[in-house]
Amino acid sequence: MFIQTKVDPEDGDFKANYEFHSALAEDLDAKKQAALEGGGARTKEKLAAQGKMPVRERIEGLIDPGTSFLELSTLAGKDLYDTDVPSAGIVTGVGTIHGRPCMIVANDPSVKGGTYFPVTVKKHLRAQEIAAENHLPCIYLVDSGGAFLPMQDEVFPDKDDFGRIFYNQARMSAAGIPQISAVHGFCTAGGAYIPAMSDQSVIVKGTGTIFLAGPPLVKAATGEDVTAEDLGGAKVHTSISGVADHMAESDAHALEILRQIVRYLGPSKRAATQLIDPQEPFYSRESIMGLLPKDPKKAFDIREVIARIVDGSELFEFKPNYGTTLVTGFAHIEGIPVGIIANNGVLFSESALKGCHFIELCTQENIPILFLQNVTGFIVGKKYEHGGIAKDGAKLVHAVANANVPKLTLIVGGSYGAGNYGMCGRAYNPKFLFMWPNAKISVMGGEQAANVLATVKEQQLAKKGVSLSPEELADIKNPILAKYETESSAYYSSARIWDDGVIDPRDTRKTLAMALAATLHQDWEPTKNGIFRM
Ligand code: COA
Repeated sequence: MFIQTKVDPEDGDFKANYEFHSALAEDLDAKKQAALEGGGARTKEKLAAQGKMPVRERIEGLIDPGTSFLELSTLAGKDLYDTDVPSAGIVTGVGTIHGRPCMIVANDPSVKGGTYFPVTVKKHLRAQEIAAENHLPCIYLVDSGGAFLPMQDEVFPDKDDFGRIFYNQARMSAAGIPQISAVHGFCTAGGAYIPAMSDQSVIVKGTGTIFLAGPPLVKAATGEDVTAEDLGGAKVHTSISGVADHMAESDAHALEILRQIVRYLGPSKRAATQLIDPQEPFYSRESIMGLLPKDPKKAFDIREVIARIVDGSELFEFKPNYGTTLVTGFAHIEGIPVGIIANNGVLFSESALKGCHFIELCTQENIPILFLQNVTGFIVGKKYEHGGIAKDGAKLVHAVANANVPKLTLIVGGSYGAGNYGMCGRAYNPKFLFMWPNAKISVMGGEQAANVLATVKEQQLAKKGVSLSPEELADIKNPILAKYETESSAYYSSARIWDDGVIDPRDTRKTLAMALAATLHQDWEPTKNGIFRM
C-alpha cells in the first residue's frame, strides 16, 4: 500500500533533473505573470480612474476569504494573433462562495475592451461546459465590448460561436444550474444578453450599462440624442425596464450582492462517494522535480509521482503483476477517493484489458478516475496485431468513453496517438485536463512523423526508379521535425485550450484536489457500456 521510494536525492541525475524542471517551472511562472498583467499598467490606470477594480481583484473579492481560486487556461490566446490577448481577455475558474464551488467567468476590460476573439469565445464556452457537467452555479462578471469586430466571421455565425453562450445559459438555467451576472461595464448588443439571460443580475451605478445599441448607433438610426446612463444605466434597468435586479454603488458592492445571491441559493446536490479525512503525502512535492528525467524518452516509475500526490503516499494497487505497463490502483487526494490509471510504458493488450477491468470497478463503486498520461501509444508489430491489440485497445477506448464517474487527466510526459485516446485525452471528456510544462502532445513523435513522410516519398520515387540523396531526405525531414517540436509543446496546446492549463508539477496535488472537489456537486449518471469486441 505505502509506496516506498527508490529515488535518491543525492544522486547526480536527481540534481540535474531538479535544475532542469525548476527552470521549466520558472519559465511557466514568468509566462503566467506576463498574462496576469492583462492589457498593461496604462489601461488599468484608466479603468481605475473610472472606479473599476482589476478583473482578478474582482474575483478575489467574490470568493470566500482565504480560499484559492482554481484559475483555468491562464495562457490561452498566447501568440495566437498579431495582437496580444493575455489570458484570451477573460478569466475563468472555480472559486468557492459561501462554501459552494462556483464557475466564475470574468471579462478583462483591459484587454481590447474585454472583446471576444475566437479564443475568448472558446474559453467562455469551456467554462460553461465545466459548469454544466459539474452542476456549478455560473457567475459572470461582465465588462465587455462584445464581439471583436474585425474577426466577426470567426466569432459570430457558427455553432460554437458567441450565440452558444446564451444558449448554454438558457439550457443550464432549465437544468437548475443558477446563472448570475454582475454588469461592471458597457454591455452592448450581444453582450447585453448575458445579464438579460441570467436568473439574477446586478448592475453597477455609473459604469454598468446594458443596451442593444449604444448612443451613437441610436443617434444614427433614429436621430434620438441620449446619454448612456439614460439609455441603459443602473437606475433605468433596476427601476424602469427590469432588465437587472440589483443596483450596486461600486464594483465591491456588486461583489457583496453576488455573494448574498449565492448564499440564498437552494442546496447543492452531493455525489454518492465516500470522503475520508485528508492526509498529506509522505514525500515532498519538491522531489517531483528531481525524479522526473530531463530526457523525455527516459523511463521512470510513475508510482514515484503518485507517491507525491496521494494521501499518505498510499496506493492500493490492482493487478500489480499483470499488464505492468499500466499502473492501476485506489488512493485518496485530500480525502476524495480516486482510482488512478497511469502509464508505465507502452500499452500492451494485457494493460488495456486491466485498464478496462479497473474502470468497471471505479464506475461500479462511484469513484472518480485520474489518468496520468505518459504514453507513446499501443504496441505495434505482427505478433501484437495477430494477438488483437486493435480490439483490446478499442475496449479501453470504449470503457474510457462511457465511464460516467468524473474523469481527470494530467499529462506528465508524452501524449501520443491512440494512447491519448485510451488514456482519456481531451476528446474523452475528462472533467478537467492539465499538463506539466515538459509535456508533449501530438499524433506521433516528430521523428516518427518525419520518417513516415520520408518513407512515403522514397517509395513514390522508387516506382519511377529515382532515389533520394541523404541531403534531399534531410530537406524533407527537417521542416517536419521543427513543426512537430513547436506544435507538440504544452504552451501551444494551452494557447488553443486543448487543456485547462499548464501547472507547476509541485502544484499537482492542490490543483487536482480543487478540481476533484468541483466534481462532487452532481449526481453521476450510472455507466452503461456498449459492445466490447471480444
Ligand atoms: N471590436 C474590436 N475592437 C474593439 C471593440 C470591438 N467591438 N471594442 C473596443 N475595441 C478596441 C478599441 O479599438 C481599443 O483598441 P486599441 O487599444 O488598440 O486602441 C480597445 O478595444 C479599447 O477600447 P476603448 O474604447 O479605448 O476602451 P474603453 O474602456 O474606453 O471602452 C468599450 C470599451 C467596449 C466600452 C468601447 O470600446 C465600446 O463601446 N466598443 C464598441 C462596443 C460595441 O458596439 N460592440 C458591438 C459588438 S456586437
